[in-house]
Amino acid sequence: MYGSNKAVTDDTDRTEFRKTEKKYKLYYDQNSKRKKQPKQVDLSEVLDFKSFLDSYHQNGELPPEIVVVDCRFDRPVFGLESRPGFYFIPGALSVDEQCRWIRDSLMSFPQPPNRTNHNAIYGPISDLFAAVKERKVLVEDENMPAGLDSGSNGCVGNEDTCRWSFCEEDSVLSRGRSCKSVSASVLLRKLRWSTLGLQFDWSKRNYNVSLPHNKIPDELCQLAKKLAAPAMPMGEEFQPEAAIVNYFASGDTLGGHLDDMEADWSKPIVSMSLGCKAIFLLGGKSREDPPLAMFLRSGDVVLMAGEARECFHGVPRIFTDKENAETTTLELHFCDENDILEYIRTSRINVNIRQVF
Ligand code: OGA
Ligand code: MN
Repeated sequence: MYGSNKAVTDDTDRTEFRKTEKKYKLYYDQNSKRKKQPKQVDLSEVLDFKSFLDSYHQNGELPPEIVVVDCRFDRPVFGLESRPGFYFIPGALSVDEQCRWIRDSLMSFPQPPNRTNHNAIYGPISDLFAAVKERKVLVEDENMPAGLDSGSNGCVGNEDTCRWSFCEEDSVLSRGRSCKSVSASVLLRKLRWSTLGLQFDWSKRNYNVSLPHNKIPDELCQLAKKLAAPAMPMGEEFQPEAAIVNYFASGDTLGGHLDDMEADWSKPIVSMSLGCKAIFLLGGKSREDPPLAMFLRSGDVVLMAGEARECFHGVPRIFTDKENAETTTLELHFCDENDILEYIRTSRINVNIRQVF
C-alpha cells in the first residue's frame, strides 16, 4: 500500500487512479548545477474546501458539485454530489487540539503494546521520541537471541530480552564498528505507522485480536464519536475500536486502496489530518474511475461511510515547502518544543479511526 520510488511497469500503471497519482506525486527536476527543485505541478483542479468554507460563510455560495450536509454539527460539513457517504469538515480541529494530537502521535501512540513499522526489525521500541530528544542511538546486543517479529510482542522471548536498546551516542562510539546501531532521529524519520486499539496486521491485512493491545485512549474515543456523528444513522453512536496512525515525510505517498477489513461498512472511517498540507485522491469503485483531488490541511477531518467506503483513495503528495505546507500556525505553537517543531515542519500525520465489528 505504501509508495516507493521504484518504477512501476505493471498494469496498475495505466489505470486512471494511477495516472492521477503520478500527476501529483513529487518529482524533482533534473538539474545538476542547482539544488534539486520539485517539479512544478498544476494544482488548479485540486478542490479546496478551505476556500469553499470561506465563500460559504461570505455569501452562502458553493461550486455545483459541493453540498452542505444537513446535520447538527457545530460547523459546516460538506459533501460531494457524486460521492454519497463522503464528508469533509474543514478546520474541524482547533489549533490546540491539533497540537495535542501531534504530541500524542509522536510520544504516546508509538508506545508498546501498540505496534509500528519498526517492530518487524527491532521488536518493540519504548520512548522513541524521548530518545530523539536525548540524541540516543538504538544498539543491538549481539549476545541476545535474534529478535525477529515473531508475533505477540515482536521479540523472541519476553520484552525484557529484546536485542535492541537505546544507548548514549558516546558509548556506541567507544564500542567500535562491529555493533549494529541506528540513531533515534533516523528511526523517527522512518516511522511510517503505528496502530492503536485492536492491532492491524499488515502482512495478513487483518485485525489480529490475539495481539496484546490497549483500548483507544478515552479522549480520542470521545472526539471520534463527536466527529463521526454527521455520518452516523440517527440515534446510533460510533464505537472506535482501532486506529491507524500514518506518518508522512517529504516524498512519502499512500497508494490507492480500499479499507475493506472492517466488518460493517455502513460505519464511517474518521480521518484527521495533522501537519503539512497534502493532496487526497478520492476515486470511484473502480481504479478506472478518474479520482477527484482535494487539499487536506492540518485540522481537516474526512469521513468515509456507506458507498464512499467502496471508493479507492490515497495520498499522492504532501507539501513540505514553506509556501505550500501551511504549518506556520503550528510552528508558532511549538516554538518552545524544538524536536516537535523540526518534525512537523516537514511531516504530515494522519489518524484514521475505525469501528471494526
Ligand atoms: C488510511 C488512509 C488517508 C490519509 O490510512 O487508510 O486512507 O489522509 N489515510 O492519510
Ligand atoms: Mn484508507
